[in-house]
Amino acid sequence: MQITVEVNGAEYPREVEPRLLLIHFLRDELGLTGSHWGCDTSNCGACVVWLDETPVKSCTVLAATADGHRVRTVEGLERDGELDPIQQGFAECHGLQCGFCTPGMMLTSRWLLDHHPDPSTAEIREALSGQICRCTGYENIVRSVRWAAEHAAAAEAVEAADDGAFTDQAAEEVTA
Ligand code: FES
Ligand code: FES
Repeated sequence: MQITVEVNGAEYPREVEPRLLLIHFLRDELGLTGSHWGCDTSNCGACVVWLDETPVKSCTVLAATADGHRVRTVEGLERDGELDPIQQGFAECHGLQCGFCTPGMMLTSRWLLDHHPDPSTAEIREALSGQICRCTGYENIVRSVRWAAEHAAAAEAVEAADDGAFTDQAAEEVTA
Protein backbone atom coordinates (compact mmCIF):
# COMPACT_ATOMS: atom_id res chain seq x y z
CA MET A 1 0.00 0.00 0.00
CA GLN A 2 1.06 3.61 -0.59
CA ILE A 3 1.52 5.86 2.45
CA THR A 4 2.92 9.32 3.06
CA VAL A 5 4.23 10.18 6.50
CA GLU A 6 5.65 13.50 7.61
CA VAL A 7 8.73 12.80 9.71
CA ASN A 8 10.58 15.65 11.41
CA GLY A 9 9.05 18.11 8.96
CA ALA A 10 9.78 16.23 5.71
CA GLU A 11 7.23 14.18 3.74
CA TYR A 12 8.09 10.58 2.90
CA PRO A 13 5.89 8.77 0.38
CA ARG A 14 6.58 5.03 0.41
CA GLU A 15 5.10 1.73 -0.77
CA VAL A 16 4.88 -0.52 2.30
CA GLU A 17 3.41 -3.81 3.43
CA PRO A 18 0.22 -3.25 5.46
CA ARG A 19 1.74 -5.16 8.39
CA LEU A 20 4.90 -3.01 8.59
CA LEU A 21 5.42 -1.51 12.05
CA LEU A 22 6.21 2.17 12.42
CA ILE A 23 9.54 1.45 14.15
CA HIS A 24 10.68 -0.59 11.12
CA PHE A 25 9.39 2.05 8.71
CA LEU A 26 11.51 4.67 10.48
CA ARG A 27 14.63 2.56 10.84
CA ASP A 28 14.63 0.41 7.72
CA GLU A 29 12.74 2.48 5.14
CA LEU A 30 13.91 5.95 6.17
CA GLY A 31 17.25 5.13 7.81
CA LEU A 32 16.30 7.00 11.00
CA THR A 33 18.00 4.63 13.41
CA GLY A 34 17.82 6.94 16.42
CA SER A 35 14.62 5.22 17.52
CA HIS A 36 15.51 1.85 18.99
CA TRP A 37 13.76 -1.48 18.72
CA GLY A 38 14.07 -3.27 22.04
CA CYS A 39 11.50 -5.62 23.53
CA ASP A 40 8.94 -5.59 20.70
CA THR A 41 6.30 -6.25 23.39
CA SER A 42 5.36 -2.67 24.33
CA ASN A 43 7.32 -2.82 27.59
CA CYS A 44 10.67 -1.06 27.25
CA GLY A 45 9.81 2.29 25.60
CA ALA A 46 13.04 2.45 23.58
CA CYS A 47 10.91 2.90 20.46
CA VAL A 48 8.91 5.93 21.65
CA VAL A 49 8.30 8.61 19.01
CA TRP A 50 5.61 11.25 18.70
CA LEU A 51 2.64 10.55 16.45
CA ASP A 52 1.23 14.01 15.83
CA GLU A 53 1.72 15.49 19.31
CA THR A 54 1.53 12.30 21.37
CA PRO A 55 4.30 9.89 22.43
CA VAL A 56 3.59 6.36 21.19
CA LYS A 57 5.47 3.09 21.30
CA SER A 58 6.23 2.69 17.63
CA CYS A 59 6.56 -1.10 17.94
CA THR A 60 2.81 -1.21 18.51
CA VAL A 61 1.78 1.19 15.72
CA LEU A 62 1.45 0.21 12.08
CA ALA A 63 3.19 2.44 9.56
CA ALA A 64 -0.16 2.55 7.78
CA THR A 65 -1.68 4.18 10.86
CA ALA A 66 0.80 7.03 10.49
CA ASP A 67 -0.30 7.69 6.89
CA GLY A 68 -1.15 11.38 6.62
CA HIS A 69 0.18 12.12 10.12
CA ARG A 70 3.26 13.77 11.61
CA VAL A 71 5.98 11.79 13.36
CA ARG A 72 8.76 13.27 15.44
CA THR A 73 11.82 11.22 16.29
CA VAL A 74 14.94 11.95 18.31
CA GLU A 75 16.57 13.20 15.10
CA GLY A 76 13.94 15.96 15.07
CA LEU A 77 14.64 17.32 18.54
CA GLU A 78 17.44 19.70 17.62
CA ARG A 79 16.58 22.99 15.94
CA ASP A 80 18.93 24.76 13.50
CA GLY A 81 21.91 22.87 14.87
CA GLU A 82 21.01 23.65 18.50
CA LEU A 83 20.36 20.74 20.79
CA ASP A 84 17.01 20.73 22.55
CA PRO A 85 17.35 21.53 26.28
CA ILE A 86 16.37 17.94 27.03
CA GLN A 87 19.32 16.70 24.96
CA GLN A 88 21.60 19.17 26.72
CA GLY A 89 20.25 18.01 30.09
CA PHE A 90 21.08 14.37 29.37
CA ALA A 91 24.60 15.41 28.35
CA GLU A 92 25.12 17.68 31.36
CA CYS A 93 23.76 15.28 33.97
CA HIS A 94 25.10 12.02 32.55
CA GLY A 95 21.56 10.79 31.91
CA LEU A 96 22.75 7.90 29.77
CA GLN A 97 25.24 5.10 29.76
CA CYS A 98 24.73 2.72 26.83
CA GLY A 99 22.14 5.09 25.34
CA PHE A 100 19.72 2.42 24.20
CA CYS A 101 16.76 3.79 26.17
CA THR A 102 17.74 7.43 25.66
CA PRO A 103 15.82 8.44 22.50
CA GLY A 104 12.53 7.26 23.98
CA MET A 105 13.33 8.85 27.33
CA MET A 106 14.03 12.16 25.61
CA LEU A 107 10.83 12.20 23.56
CA THR A 108 8.63 11.41 26.55
CA SER A 109 10.49 13.99 28.63
CA ARG A 110 10.09 16.63 25.91
CA TRP A 111 6.35 15.93 25.88
CA LEU A 112 6.22 16.19 29.67
CA LEU A 113 7.98 19.56 29.74
CA ASP A 114 5.78 20.90 26.93
CA HIS A 115 2.71 20.11 29.05
CA HIS A 116 4.18 20.57 32.52
CA PRO A 117 7.22 22.87 32.43
CA ASP A 118 8.14 22.48 36.11
CA PRO A 119 7.58 18.82 37.05
CA SER A 120 8.55 17.38 40.42
CA THR A 121 10.81 14.37 40.73
CA ALA A 122 7.75 12.20 41.36
CA GLU A 123 6.00 13.54 38.27
CA ILE A 124 9.05 12.89 36.11
CA ARG A 125 9.28 9.33 37.42
CA GLU A 126 5.59 8.77 36.75
CA ALA A 127 5.85 10.14 33.19
CA LEU A 128 8.79 7.82 32.47
CA SER A 129 7.29 4.81 34.22
CA GLY A 130 6.51 3.11 30.90
CA GLN A 131 10.18 3.12 29.94
CA ILE A 132 12.98 0.91 31.13
CA CYS A 133 16.63 1.79 31.58
CA ARG A 134 18.97 -1.09 32.38
CA CYS A 135 21.98 1.11 33.12
CA THR A 136 21.49 4.33 35.01
CA GLY A 137 19.26 3.57 38.00
CA TYR A 138 17.08 6.50 36.78
CA GLU A 139 18.56 9.08 39.18
CA ASN A 140 20.52 10.89 36.49
CA ILE A 141 17.67 10.65 34.02
CA VAL A 142 15.42 12.50 36.46
CA ARG A 143 18.19 15.06 37.08
CA SER A 144 18.53 15.54 33.31
CA VAL A 145 14.86 16.37 32.94
CA ARG A 146 15.01 18.78 35.88
CA TRP A 147 18.08 20.42 34.31
CA ALA A 148 16.13 20.94 31.08
CA ALA A 149 13.15 22.38 32.97
CA GLU A 150 15.30 24.82 34.91
CA HIS A 151 17.39 25.96 31.98
CA ALA A 152 14.36 26.40 29.71
CA ALA A 153 12.77 28.60 32.37
CA ALA A 154 15.97 30.64 32.65
CA ALA A 155 16.21 30.99 28.87
CA GLU A 156 12.62 32.22 28.69
CA ALA A 157 13.33 34.81 31.36
CA VAL A 158 16.33 36.06 29.39
CA GLU A 159 14.20 36.25 26.23
CA ALA A 160 11.60 38.24 28.15
CA ALA A 161 14.39 40.57 29.24
CA ASP A 162 15.47 41.04 25.64
CA ASP A 163 11.86 41.87 24.79
CA GLY A 164 11.81 44.53 27.50
CA ALA A 165 9.43 42.53 29.68
CA PHE A 166 11.96 41.59 32.34
CA THR A 167 10.58 41.73 35.85
CA ASP A 168 12.44 41.91 39.12
CA GLN A 169 11.18 38.42 39.95
CA ALA A 170 12.49 36.99 36.67
CA ALA A 171 15.82 38.67 37.32
CA GLU A 172 16.05 36.98 40.70
CA GLU A 173 15.18 33.59 39.20
CA VAL A 174 17.84 33.85 36.53
CA THR A 175 20.56 34.97 38.88
CA ALA A 176 19.58 32.64 41.76
FE1 FES B 1 8.66 -0.90 21.68
FE2 FES B 1 10.10 -2.05 23.58
S1 FES B 1 10.50 -1.98 21.43
S2 FES B 1 8.27 -0.88 23.80
FE1 FES C 1 21.51 1.90 28.89
FE2 FES C 1 19.34 3.29 29.60
S1 FES C 1 21.37 4.04 29.29
S2 FES C 1 19.44 1.24 28.94
